[in-house]
Amino acid sequence: MMNFMELVQARESCRSYQDKPVTREQLVNIVEAGRLSPSGCNAQPWKFLVIDEPEAKAKLCDALVVEGGSTGCPWRASVPAFIALVEQPAKVMPAVEAYYGDTQRFAQGDIGMAAMNMCYEAMEQGLSTCVLGLNDQKKMEQYFGIPEGYTVRMVLAVGYSAEDSEPRKKVRKPLEEVYSFNQW
Ligand SMILES: Cc1cc2nc3c(=O)[nH]c(=O)nc-3n(C[C@H](O)[C@H](O)[C@H](O)COP(=O)(O)O)c2cc1C
Repeated sequence: MMNFMELVQARESCRSYQDKPVTREQLVNIVEAGRLSPSGCNAQPWKFLVIDEPEAKAKLCDALVVEGGSTGCPWRASVPAFIALVEQPAKVMPAVEAYYGDTQRFAQGDIGMAAMNMCYEAMEQGLSTCVLGLNDQKKMEQYFGIPEGYTVRMVLAVGYSAEDSEPRKKVRKPLEEVYSFNQW
């Protein structure tokens, strides 16, 4: 059993998956970890669209290519399941709304928190993930009936890793560069 920092060290984006299905129970467990995440004013501005059937996956794979042909996921055909993290308009407390005007101030951060919880729950179940930021919103709405006003912020690729090598060395800014105490 890994302790938390070992888990953090071991998590990495997986871009090559085994041809092995992920069960609905596993996928719902991942969603549950998202559902339990914190959010500003507990607004829970999310819905998780799980995509695990061939026809729906084909549509999603098409929506992962945006106008102009760019995609963050050239290896998408090998992914057993996806979970789209869809941001809903957040309902926040009146004082927050009065201050920020834009009540969606917290929503992207909330989605990010949910995504992280979901990645670690996937790991707990022996699965790997990759967050995908690029998608064609119009196609997502059209293919999956996502209502207007909702934004597909990320798509999580989920499956059993086919990368059998050791975890990659993390490429990160040095620790000393990313923090200071008490003053900038
Ligand atoms: C919001 C977001 C969007 C991302 N989009 C993509 C993507 O489209 N394609 C991809 O291969 N990786 C994507 N990634 C993964 C990052 O490239 C990866 O997290 C980063 O390089 C650090 O590597 P690691 O996750 O293996 O530690 C995304 C990550 C985040 C958080």
